[in-house]
Amino acid sequence: MHDFQYKNDTLYCEDIAVSAVAEAVGTPFYLYSAATLTRHFAAFDQAFADIPHITCFAAKSCANIAILRLFAGLGGGTDIVSGGELFRARTAGVDPGKIVYSGVGKTAAEIRTALESGILMLNVESEQELAVIQTVAAGMGLKAPVSFRVNPDVDPKTHAYISTGLAKNKFGIPIGDALRVYLAASKMANIAIKGVSCHIGSQLTLVSPFVESLAKVKGFIAHLAEQGIGITHLDLGGGLGIRYNGEEPPLPSEYARAIKQELGSLHCTLILEPGRVLVGNAGALVTRVLYTKEGLKKFIIVDAGMNDLARPSLYDAFHHIQAVERPNREQAVADVVGPICETGDFLARERPMPKVEADELLAVMSAGAYGFSMSSNYNSRPRVAEVLVHGDAFHVIRARETYETLIQGESIPEFLGKGA
Ligand SMILES: Cc1ncc(COP(=O)(O)O)c(C=O)c1O
Repeated sequence: MHDFQYKNDTLYCEDIAVSAVAEAVGTPFYLYSAATLTRHFAAFDQAFADIPHITCFAAKSCANIAILRLFAGLGGGTDIVSGGELFRARTAGVDPGKIVYSGVGKTAAEIRTALESGILMLNVESEQELAVIQTVAAGMGLKAPVSFRVNPDVDPKTHAYISTGLAKNKFGIPIGDALRVYLAASKMANIAIKGVSCHIGSQLTLVSPFVESLAKVKGFIAHLAEQGIGITHLDLGGGLGIRYNGEEPPLPSEYARAIKQELGSLHCTLILEPGRVLVGNAGALVTRVLYTKEGLKKFIIVDAGMNDLARPSLYDAFHHIQAVERPNREQAVADVVGPICETGDFLARERPMPKVEADELLAVMSAGAYGFSMSSNYNSRPRVAEVLVHGDAFHVIRARETYETLIQGESIPEFLGKGA
């Protein structure tokens, strides 16, 4: 359930007409509902209320500091994958004791900053990374809290680009090698083993891969215990899918029930890293029709492109696109395309669309996750504004970039002369 609803044929986000926001901030822009974000967090977090856990929102899915603050205010932490995301989380006021840091390519500088910040744990993804953490921690005179991300070789049955838990994927340490790595780590002076972590992919619509990987991880934790290595934290990653177009992913309550059942009597604090399921359907990308044209095909040319929302081009992902006013009008099959000079620049292809005209507004739904956070300046397009609605008020939580921000940091060396 989300808070984008029609009232008298006009799309509202909570109590604000989407067209009123468009009038005020221009287009395109991302629009998020605080009520939906709050409800989604509560549904997820409360599903685990009966066991020790921390819901660490995956910043990569929607990294705006206002969104990070919103979840932190509800008791959540943050799952980060870069020094930049750590900076965002700290700026947003996230408790460092609720920050976990994953990623295969953490630099020594990022590791140092994370340790200085006092984060809960680094999820280590290779032996070489472990060696760097040991060196950095030794230099700082402390013990680095770590868990190891194990790769359980489980098929998450999702898009190949967002599968992470197969042996052929770059992520984690093969579960068959992990015991040796834990034993090595247990002998390192500046490493404190806290947990085991695992994340098998994104947009999972079945519970069974989660359960299968948890079963493998549980078996592994038993082997660790036999070797005298106890853990206090089990990080199960994120990955729960959402409905974009008729998928029927498990509800957070169903997901939690299955996880808790498989966990059995395992006693440790569960870390969960949901991203998409919290923000995906809480956000929309609002765009204006620039032109329509008809030849062999019908095109609706809008002012948002693949640089603003990469998912359709990157994953052939489906997003519902609706007219902001009068949604139930006559339809015609069209491609919805952006202004980018790429044939791959589309938001929808061969889609029955309401017959819209230039200047009308469209809402690209379910765009809250991996929308703005994956956007770029390609074709020198300033990144769009982000707006958060709260009841009948809206707040620009990221200003639209300007042409000046586009060239920020660039310079022309003197030998190239002055130009015209
Ligand atoms: C380590 C890790 N945790 C959490 C997530 C969040 O996944 P999702 O947005 O599918 O919940 C990801 C995304 O791929 C990830 O790589």
